[in-house]
Parts: sequence; structure tokens; C-alpha cells
Amino acid sequence: MLVRVLGSAAGGGFPQWNCNCTNCAGVRAGQLRARPRTQSSIAVSDDGAGWVLFNASPDIRIQIESFPPLRPSRKIRDTGIAAIILVDSQIDHATGLLLLREGAPLRVYCSDMVYQDLTTGFPVLKILENYCGVERHRVGIEGEDSIFSVPETPNLQFKAVALDSKAPPYSPHRYDPHPGDTIGVCVEDSRSGKSLFYAPALGKVDSRVLELMAQADCLLVDGTFWQDDELAVQGISDKRALDMGHLPQWGPGGMIEVLRKVPKPRKVLIHINNTNPILREDSAERAILEREGIEVAFDGMEIVL
Ligand code: MLT
Ligand code: MN
Ligand code: ZN
Repeated sequence: MLVRVLGSAAGGGFPQWNCNCTNCAGVRAGQLRARPRTQSSIAVSDDGAGWVLFNASPDIRIQIESFPPLRPSRKIRDTGIAAIILVDSQIDHATGLLLLREGAPLRVYCSDMVYQDLTTGFPVLKILENYCGVERHRVGIEGEDSIFSVPETPNLQFKAVALDSKAPPYSPHRYDPHPGDTIGVCVEDSRSGKSLFYAPALGKVDSRVLELMAQADCLLVDGTFWQDDELAVQGISDKRALDMGHLPQWGPGGMIEVLRKVPKPRKVLIHINNTNPILREDSAERAILEREGIEVAFDGMEIVL
């Protein structure tokens, strides 16, 4: 299986248009050891020809251009994108669908909860009916219903799992959570036998999720915030990481502690907020991750499993 990180930043990207934090101002000025990053998306493939996109970010146009296998190559109108799986209905994961309106009907895989949000509060799937059209595939979160495959990647099996995170601020589920508001996905390659667990929004790791993580060969998991009060200490907002459905890395019960419990997989943080000190390659926080054997995803990162 081939995994390509298209966008490794959280919503807003890095730098974020209106942000003057140390990281954003520093990377703009070229004064930081840090790379700019686009918003949250990955692509996976079994043979490098057909690609399944996870999430469609507002930066999808530049993400497609930056990765030749996704560009048109066979006929006058074309794409290497075979299907799109949505892990939630957040703006940074769904807005890019609108930018694909010129093509053939979009094959979108999502849970019932995500489908509800994207046909009501943020009705991109409805809007697209007047453009390319949408072929929606239902992703269940229990048993056989949660397992699916995509014809263009016949050697990959996808399995969805409901995660504890937060529905978007516009969703009626923001403070009334339902299973399937957010999913994680295990992707297994039947030829190599290797698997990926992708969960860019993960607020709590219970024993069920920990078991899935322990079995995977590679984790691409929520790296949004270093600490729970990261936005508050920088004077940005009083919203806490956990209130936004993101488990911070640092502190008791944080992602670093969770990842210590799973020795087998390669561990990579993704969906990193622009305020997170781990974006600075020479930061003390980044050194801590290195000692823990935890990597930080970057745009263009490739993983072979
Ligand atoms: C999140 O993951 O919490 C969202 O990216 C926030 C947002 O869209 O602003
Ligand atoms: Mn997000
Ligand atoms: Zn910033």
C-alpha cells in the first residue's frame, strides 16, 4: 500500500491567513525551521494507479497539482482520484468537494451522520447534485457494514470505526454526539498484509480503539494540539483541545502516553494545528517526540506498507 500525505495541517493550514502566532509569523518571515503545510488529507493506493482520497480539503487543488498520480493523464477530462472517504463533516475535510464539481459524479464514502450534516447544515452534497452529481456510499460503523472496498484499489480493505471526537460547530451534534459523527479507518493491504490506522480527529482512546491501534503497522493520528490549553496560553481563544475533540499530546492521558502503550506500529502525528510547537523542527517539544519514536507528518510524506 502506498500512502501519500497531501495535507498535514489542521483546519486553517500553516500559516493560517489571519494568524500572527510565533509559528505563523515565523514561517512567513522564513525565520523558523518549519515547513508550511496545507489542510488535512491523505491519499492511499494499492498499485499507484487508482487513489482513494481521505477527505477533501480546501487546498485540494494545489494538493492534486503537487502529486502527479492525481492529475489527469488518460483522456481530455480525467483524474487519478477513484473515491473520497470522509472521516467527518468538518469544513477542512469537506469543502474541497466543491472544487471537484467539474468532473464525473463523485464517489463519496461517509457515515450516516456525516451524510446528514453534508446535506443539511453544510449541504455540499446537495449543491453538487447541480454540478457533477454524487454517488454516495454508506459507511457503517458496526460489523460487516463497516467494511468496504473500492473497485479501483481491489487489494485494499477499509474498515470504519466510530471515534470519540466532536462534530463541527455548525452541526446539531456538536453538543449531542452520535456514533459516526467522526470515524477512524483501518486500511489493510491483502498482498502485504500490512495496515494503516488513520484518525486525524481523535478525542479519546478507549480500549477498543487502543486495540485497533496496537494491531496496525502504521498510525496516522490526531496531532492537532500539544497541550489542552494551547490556544488560551497564546491568547487566541479559550477553547480547549479536548472541547474541540482533539486529544493533546502532552500531559497525563495525552497522546504521547497512549502511543507508549502500542509498541508495534510506526507512529505519525497528522492534522497539526498552526499553534503547535512540534511544527518547529528544533523545538524542545519536537525533541520529546523524537525520543518517543513519534514522527510528525509533512506535506508530501510517503509511507509504503
Ligand atoms: C477541527 O478539526 O477541529 C476543525 O478543523 C476545526 C475547523 O474546521 O476550524
Ligand atoms: Mn479539522
Ligand atoms: Zn498561527
